[in-house]
Amino acid sequence: MSKPVIWIPRRLSPATLDRARRDYEVIVKPDDTPGTAAEIIDMSARVDGMIPCHSEQFSADVVAQLDPRLRIVANHSVGTDHCDLPALRARGIAVTNTPDVLADATAELAFMLMLGAARRAVEGDRIVRSGAWDSWSPAFLVGKQVTGARLGIVGMGGVGRAMARKARGFDMQVHYHNRNRLPPAQEGAAIYHQRVEDLLAAVDFVSLHCPATPDTLGLMNAERIALMPRGSILVNAARGALVDEGALLAAIESGHLAGAGLDCFVTEPGGNPDFAAHENIVMMPHVGSATVATRDAMGFRALDNLDAFFRGEAPRDLL
Ligand code: DGY
Repeated sequence: MSKPVIWIPRRLSPATLDRARRDYEVIVKPDDTPGTAAEIIDMSARVDGMIPCHSEQFSADVVAQLDPRLRIVANHSVGTDHCDLPALRARGIAVTNTPDVLADATAELAFMLMLGAARRAVEGDRIVRSGAWDSWSPAFLVGKQVTGARLGIVGMGGVGRAMARKARGFDMQVHYHNRNRLPPAQEGAAIYHQRVEDLLAAVDFVSLHCPATPDTLGLMNAERIALMPRGSILVNAARGALVDEGALLAAIESGHLAGAGLDCFVTEPGGNPDFAAHENIVMMPHVGSATVATRDAMGFRALDNLDAFFRGEAPRDLL
């Protein structure tokens, strides 16, 4: 029996590509640039499945033009805001994602951003690197202590819970907001806030780990940022659309926020050039899940989903 044909638009890990080539007839986009709408539509007539990343946009318009040959979109991402899920479902195309496997890597990066913003890592690195370090004083580069502070996690899915586990190692008091309160075994000592507004007012650090949905767009607007205590720090390693970047900038410039740590931006790739002048904003280019182990795990999870689908079973991560 001939193998299903799949399209892989981005450069996935070598182990993922090896396994994909073993089990499928694979077409890899050679230049590792985001698959355009025209490429997605064109490839849909040539393949049975695709493994896109969050860089490929399956808008309603694109989905309407997909060829019926395409039967599954097995995303190499936990986020699916690049996919119009109702439109894909209406076309009968299966969609899967890769939950859980990137939780630790993403939480690790969020923690790095939080520590970096709290302990003034960008400024310190610049001073040493540029040769400008010419004195020392107890008043030099004094930051905000993370150990023992209060951390507010918005979104207690896999990444939020991984963040909470790491925070416990820093003796942080963990607060969280989630659509649903966690069962006691998962909640542990974390303090639940039914209203995100109450959480924001109760903590020293806020870390966003919820998906971008119509309900969460612009979640951190001027009003909600104002609820955070003066001198607190906002971290976003989830999606840029959760934050009103103008409001964040105003809060940094007024000194209301002591800093921010951002792995996600409204405009990606590229980011927000207005943030660049502020060394208390630590920035990374959307690489929360970018570790060797996690890239393999994401690729394998996407392939597991494809394998199940082509065996005629329900994929584990069917959305
Ligand atoms: C995800 O998996 O959603 C990450 O943002 C990387 O794409």
